Amino acid sequence: MVIAIDGPAGAGKSTVARAVAAALGFTYLDSGAMYRCVALAVLRSGGEPAALARSLTIELGERVLLDGEDVSGAIRAPEVSELASTVAALPEVRSAMVAQQQRLLGSGDWVAEGRDIGTVVRPQAELKVFLTASEAERANRRAAELGATQEAVLAAQRERDRRDSTRAASPLRPAAGAVELDTTGLTFDEVVARVLTLATAR
Ligand code: DC
Repeated sequence: MVIAIDGPAGAGKSTVARAVAAALGFTYLDSGAMYRCVALAVLRSGGEPAALARSLTIELGERVLLDGEDVSGAIRAPEVSELASTVAALPEVRSAMVAQQQRLLGSGDWVAEGRDIGTVVRPQAELKVFLTASEAERANRRAAELGATQEAVLAAQRERDRRDSTRAASPLRPAAGAVELDTTGLTFDEVVARVLTLATAR
């Protein structure tokens, strides 16, 4: 079974997806980490994103490994977030990442999280959830995580949201048949419980 969780930055996708995967004994796939790895490699080498996307070895698990190096912390830096949304708009980068994601999801039980899991990577997922929250709430959550101010986070978040949802290649939007879940004002436990209820109903 595959549960696809898509939505904008800061909607709580990764914490929710991780908890749902743990509760069900499924494997968690953080597709954003893959775009972040490509961005990190571009920043470090100045190489061409599509060529790097095809040649890098990205391993996901408890830690994120890029060509064998643990980059779990490095891929969360603000400049990597920024560049990840730019490289993720490139069709050749996307096709390389989508092919890897489809291979992984081809066998076993997964909770896969990203922007295009339900629309492109796995439209036949048994459960598709589109997780949202108000812009202010998303910025507050991210600010608390990063130890930054809401204003600082909000401007960068707006720009990333704009890029992710207006790009020509697989723009962020709810998949056909996705359940839209607005998490504004809900606790983390409430969101996880709702997704688990949806999953067990499938
Ligand atoms: O979820 P995240 O913030 O780690 O994602 C990093 C960037 O990659 C973000 O700008 C959106 C993009 N992304 C994407 O285009 N498609 C995905 N399936 C996952 C992430």
